[in-house]
Amino acid sequence: MASNAVEETAFGGRYTLPPVEIITDSPAEIRRKQERVRALAKERNAVLLAHHYQRPEVQEVADAVADSLKLSQAAAKTDADVIVFCGVHFMAETAAILLPEKIVLLPDLRAGCSLAASITPEELRKWKAKMPDAVVVAYINTSAAVKAESDYCCTSANAAKVVAAIPADRPILFLPDKFLASVAARQANRGNIVAYPGYCHVHKMIRPEQVTEIMEEHPDIELLLHPECGCVSSCMAKAVDGTLPADRTFFLSTEGMLRHIGTSTSTEFAVGTELGILHQLNKKFPEKTFHPVNPDAICAFMKTITLDKVIASLETLTPRITVPEEIARKAKRSIDRMLELA
Ligand code: 13P
Ligand code: SF4
Repeated sequence: MASNAVEETAFGGRYTLPPVEIITDSPAEIRRKQERVRALAKERNAVLLAHHYQRPEVQEVADAVADSLKLSQAAAKTDADVIVFCGVHFMAETAAILLPEKIVLLPDLRAGCSLAASITPEELRKWKAKMPDAVVVAYINTSAAVKAESDYCCTSANAAKVVAAIPADRPILFLPDKFLASVAARQANRGNIVAYPGYCHVHKMIRPEQVTEIMEEHPDIELLLHPECGCVSSCMAKAVDGTLPADRTFFLSTEGMLRHIGTSTSTEFAVGTELGILHQLNKKFPEKTFHPVNPDAICAFMKTITLDKVIASLETLTPRITVPEEIARKAKRSIDRMLELA
């Protein structure tokens, strides 16, 4: 797969990682805050949508906990007046694009995303100018302005499906995640995908040597890797040459992991993604065992959302996320195309 000239090292300078706040509330205090959230949500006719990487106490108070695809589908369908997005900025923007008449809240504006920060609309325009006949597929982890410059949106749950829906003779510019691009290219059997060299700083740290170590320690377990992981290209190759068991190695979105575990006869899994998902996994499958491939894989952006922030957000109906009309109109085309295929 070809690459372009953007320096990988540029991305670290584009975002500031917020510190991860340690919550010291007692269980009774957490319950009291959760009750306050539910009371305020009722008062405001608000729906709380939480991503799998949210803090456990935030997941527990939400109306829905899901991956990026299911959360955008839930946002598109809601009849609530207010959507509280317990996730990161691009997710709240997606809800605001789909439902401009609703109040969309992001409880902490520091909830950004290193992957979304890795490409700007100006950079995308320059990239497109080099390949004007290409179809542009943007991962949902992008700003609304980048989606507005793209033909299709996709998530980790449907990237291969979106890519496969594009006529085989059209080259594809896939952005911004180079690791997801390689998984989508392989799953859709596409050779004509050019990947932007972006990445998520959390998933990039999930490395081939950690996979080797965990598979040596637990030789019979299933390996579940999010396609944003830094190890995916190496693991796909190893699953082909037999170094990793092909029938026990899976590349899945967070929701895909939950679905897969629900149908698998295995009882032990190595999980390569952000640690927040372990809350849902342990809750839904208490009889199964989960080992994080990298126990340091924590997204500081996701953890900015606390119960206190959710309460303040519902009380004040701020911070509100809106998208300028023209950008929203263009971005919506790429999201709608994805939702039609999903
Ligand atoms: P999914 O939940 O869609 O797999 O996405 C992972 C992610 O990185 C969200 O920021
Ligand atoms: Fe972005 Fe990575 Fe955090 Fe997901 S885990 S929100 S891709 S920084």
